[in-house]
Amino acid sequence: MKSSSYKTSFDYEDLTVRSTAITRIVEEARGIRSFGFRGSLDAQPGQFVMLWLPEAGARPFSIYKDDGEEFVLTIARVGPFTEQLFDCRVGDRLGYFGPFGKPFDLRGTHLALVGGGYGSAPLSFLARNATAQGVTSELVIGARNKSLLLYSDEPAIAGVMKHYCTDDGSYGYRGLVTERLHELLRDDPSIDMVYTAGPELMMKEVVAVCDEFGIDGQVSLERYMKCGFGICGSCCVDPNGLRMCVEGPCIDNEVAKGISEFGVYHRDAAGIRHPFVTA
Ligand SMILES: Cc1cc2nc3c(=O)[nH]c(=O)nc-3n(C[C@H](O)[C@H](O)[C@H](O)COP(=O)(O)OP(=O)(O)OC[C@H]3O[C@@H](n4cnc5c(N)ncnc54)[C@H](O)[C@@H]3O)c2cc1C
Ligand code: FES
Repeated sequence: MKSSSYKTSFDYEDLTVRSTAITRIVEEARGIRSFGFRGSLDAQPGQFVMLWLPEAGARPFSIYKDDGEEFVLTIARVGPFTEQLFDCRVGDRLGYFGPFGKPFDLRGTHLALVGGGYGSAPLSFLARNATAQGVTSELVIGARNKSLLLYSDEPAIAGVMKHYCTDDGSYGYRGLVTERLHELLRDDPSIDMVYTAGPELMMKEVVAVCDEFGIDGQVSLERYMKCGFGICGSCCVDPNGLRMCVEGPCIDNEVAKGISEFGVYHRDAAGIRHPFVTA
């Protein structure tokens, strides 16, 4: 598969807030909706866009789909910005700038894509791109239960085998996505690359499973992002100061393992550390 190229420095046009309108709103799961927006981001899987709403400011979101006429984001309602967005209706306008960030580097011939929560969005985008390049994928999507599971009604994607997992067995495989990944890697030695996005403790476990099988992989590491294009420093990680909005969010497993805070803590808007805790 061909390697990705992406921007690491930006001109005025890249940083101009553009206006778009909501084309559709889909209830995906409890507290999670997909929003379609008019236009194209010309983005690659794993990149993100900054959405802007008056008074609420700008926030980063991964891209789920972009067909050249409409781009789609899957968004969880968690606080002031997303609450304001959830009050919007089809036809309402809002601002955006980007896309930004290092996308997934497409390599491998048979992929395993492991997503939890809205982390499944960029992986679904990646799966469709892989298909377009003749590469097959195992898309493993997990949630605590069926009411939180994303995309279970989505039509089949050619070349993509879907594995839905719920912790309580209310839909698909009963168990964690990492358990399903372990089975897939054990049973199918042709899988040669693993991508993951979602809760950080889940991703840390995915990296451990990759190590057990000696398989290469990438993770999408989210950190608090204020600017989204490399100047504010809010998304820098310890100890190497990599900016997750420019050198990430998609990084190799080996790079993630060199980040001492990976799976341990993250920082809020004030730079205060918050440990990751199991749900
Ligand atoms: C690269 C990247 C991709 C993301 N993709 C998605 C996505 O596809 N769907 C989705 O629902 N969410 C995504 N997020 C998280 C999303 O940015 C936050 O949920 C959103 O900013 C919350 O804002 P709020 O005002 O609603 O909630 P708040 O109450 O402000 O925050 C709730 C939580 O969201 C996180 N958050 C808040 N602001 C930011 C910020 N500026 N940067 C990073 N995290 C923040 C913090 O962990 C915070 O505790 C992504 C974040 C990053 C960094
Ligand atoms: S968000 Fe500002 S440097 Fe990354």
